[in-house]
Amino acid sequence: MRLKIAILAGDGIGPEVTNEAVNILKAVAELGGHDFSFVPLLLGGVAITATGSPLPTATLDACLESDAVLLGAVGDNKFNDLSPDKRPEAGLLQIRQALGGFANLRPSIAYPALAENSPLRPEVTKDANILFVRELLGGLYFGSPRGWNKEPSAPGGGEAINTMRYTRAEVVRVARVAFELAAKRRKKVTSVDKANVLEVSQLWRATVTEVAADYPEVTLEHQLVDSMAMHIMNIPRNFDVVLTENLFGDILSDEAGVITGSLGMLPSATIGGTVNLYEPVHGSAPDIAGTGKANPLGAILTAAMVLRHTANLEQDAAAIEAAVGKVLSAGHRTADIARRNAAGASNDAVQHLVSTREMGKLVHQALAESIDRRQSMHAV
Ligand code: IPM
Ligand code: MN
Repeated sequence: MRLKIAILAGDGIGPEVTNEAVNILKAVAELGGHDFSFVPLLLGGVAITATGSPLPTATLDACLESDAVLLGAVGDNKFNDLSPDKRPEAGLLQIRQALGGFANLRPSIAYPALAENSPLRPEVTKDANILFVRELLGGLYFGSPRGWNKEPSAPGGGEAINTMRYTRAEVVRVARVAFELAAKRRKKVTSVDKANVLEVSQLWRATVTEVAADYPEVTLEHQLVDSMAMHIMNIPRNFDVVLTENLFGDILSDEAGVITGSLGMLPSATIGGTVNLYEPVHGSAPDIAGTGKANPLGAILTAAMVLRHTANLEQDAAAIEAAVGKVLSAGHRTADIARRNAAGASNDAVQHLVSTREMGKLVHQALAESIDRRQSMHAV
């Protein structure tokens, strides 16, 4: 299998965690005799510093010629005063739009080894396995008109506007992805909206209901976003596929990090466009960049999604996920998932605090062992 992967490591902890994800992909290529090539490119704050633009043309062109795009994180406090269209995040939104993927898949899984790490009780998170399907190209993020008419006399004043807009076709295509995925899982779609207030949500609900008719084997339920935010924390195992518009999905998927124990654990894949885009859910965390504290598992699990959704190497994707589970069960923890006592200190002799690099190496080792085992079983 040949694969050309564009690497957009980005800002903050992006480069550190992406490095570990790339190492894992290199290991899979080596162990499985695949030919993966990696093309490093600039996006976000590092791109603004080097070229003046958060998404340089060279980056965009190379991404469009790749089989997949693997992104680290974007965002840098240096640029906080810029308008939204000039910030590092603008580069991310532009690349999402240019690649065309509209369905952002964000799995949130309760790993048994991390049961004690979630602020939720283990009996609450037990067996939770939610797949968010977040619409990624519509809603408030992209709707026009948008802007801020500032009052020269009062900085920070004036009037600002954003527009939430969806067309039926935009809802249909993302709803289909959700139902297709649910049909292969526990056969339930929960569609999230605010139909008691917003016309956009009424269109969303009516359209999703219509699409559901094509999937009689899948149960559909509707939830209002405010009560959904509570239900997810109350009984997470009740949910299978959760379908949301862009902003609701942004918020709920971060909230669901609590189920896993850390935002640093969450991967994502964006499908449906010209080139799939893969990015961990977490941000650039500038406060811990360069300290070796970042959790690379979100990025590594994102690499697994590259193998699943672009390369069709399901066995290898599952092997990476199993390797992550094994390393966690053995007690290895980055700071964000280390168990803490009330004073905030790590208080558990069975947990070993490891750095970003060490965590990457441990997963590599566990993966190599499992692929070796698979290959020797095939050989007999
Ligand atoms: C995410 C991030 C982005 C988003 C930001 C960085 C633009 O929060 O991927 O969840 O809001 O989509
Ligand atoms: Mn977000």
